[in-house]
Amino acid sequence: MKKLAVNGGNTLNGKIDLQGSKNSALPIISACVAVNGVCVIHNCPKLTDVESSLRILEHIGCKVKREGNSVTVDSTTASSWSIPEEMMHEMRSSIVFMGALLTRFTFASVTSPGGCEIGLRPIDLHLSALREMGVCVNENGGNLDCTAPYGISGCRISLAFPSVGATENVILASVCAKGETVITNAAREPEIADLASFLNKCGAKISGAGQSVIRIQGVSSLAGAEHRIIPDRIVASTHMALVAAAGGKIAVDGVCADHLAPVIPVFESAGCLVNVKNSELIIGAPKKLLRVKCIRTMPYPGFPTDSQALVMAMLTKAEGTSIISERIFENRFRHVPELIKMGADIRVENNCVAVVEGVEKLHGARVSATDLRGGCALLVAALGAEGKTFIEDIHHIDRGFEGAEHTLGMLGADIKRE
Ligand code: UD1
Repeated sequence: MKKLAVNGGNTLNGKIDLQGSKNSALPIISACVAVNGVCVIHNCPKLTDVESSLRILEHIGCKVKREGNSVTVDSTTASSWSIPEEMMHEMRSSIVFMGALLTRFTFASVTSPGGCEIGLRPIDLHLSALREMGVCVNENGGNLDCTAPYGISGCRISLAFPSVGATENVILASVCAKGETVITNAAREPEIADLASFLNKCGAKISGAGQSVIRIQGVSSLAGAEHRIIPDRIVASTHMALVAAAGGKIAVDGVCADHLAPVIPVFESAGCLVNVKNSELIIGAPKKLLRVKCIRTMPYPGFPTDSQALVMAMLTKAEGTSIISERIFENRFRHVPELIKMGADIRVENNCVAVVEGVEKLHGARVSATDLRGGCALLVAALGAEGKTFIEDIHHIDRGFEGAEHTLGMLGADIKRE
């Protein structure tokens, strides 16, 4: 089994380029099915989740070519609306293929998705929204057979929670629907706006994406287009937490400052010096990190749940007590026992609040990545710890953090894949 061996104690210094957003790339790749043409997607990160999505496209019958970070998808040859269980199980985001397949074929045969085990992660909001649009969903065990015998009809959909995936699925199912679809309480994440921006280049008529009310006027068909994926705001916060814990100063090039507005104040409260000019973010670690009184994860533009584990790992060595409240997923503290193995003092209450008592130092240990961001949190802790840490189950990290050991090695970390 592959693992990362990290010798803590080196500070991080230098400049790196930020990767493209995984959470943007995945729905945009699935959107290519809804398009009958050739799409070119730039800034597409090399991640196992992205490769899994591209394999699904090939299974459906699309022609896929990757050159560096650009991917060309010819979906004119797409011929199947069925995705096998093992492909669906590779990641949670496979569920957004449902909306795209329905737009292209009025049929979709999929199964419940996989992904990080950070909670129950039901898909009830996706299914009820599609049913409102005239889609018949037949649930049989884990199989989901969907058909729209009278076509997909635009309607008003009010989401009970601003789910990112459900918002994406409704957008994908409604781009070519009859009439107008209005989503209220839509997710406002930048990745939603990026999906809409791509689809609009293909001829869709979507307005309001990135806000709570999104309007989609159905069009007759979509044509191929070229698009550049937005920078990954969660990986930007990963780099910030890494340097905060290890010490030093780094520049991250290619950020979108607006997308980082929910996280920058947290790093500043911890004593980091953060400066963003144009698309370059410079962050310098303080001699001693300070506690952050209270962090609550919220839908965007609140503090992202995906950055929670990273910031927790950083705060294990801060002076004082930090409180972290997880409000999006019910099982997102699985990294805590691993951090405790490294000497962290963390108490979890009711599975939703973590009390982090800063300790003087962390020590190396043998730990396991429990999920993607939890795995990256172990990297944060390992770089700031004394001695050697072995991180196992690193396939979780490879799902979302491009070339971890290469990037961190360039910045001065002592890290090896074994
Ligand atoms: C996406 C992101 C993930 C991020 C999350 C929240 C991708 C590929 N993944 O996941 O990194 O952590 O947004 O920002 O973009 N829920 C329901 N019923 C549903 C759908 C969701 O109860 O039908 C609940 C979930 O269980 C969870 C909450 O809503 O508690 C948020 O989920 P959602 O916004 O849908 O997250 P994902 O799209 O799965």
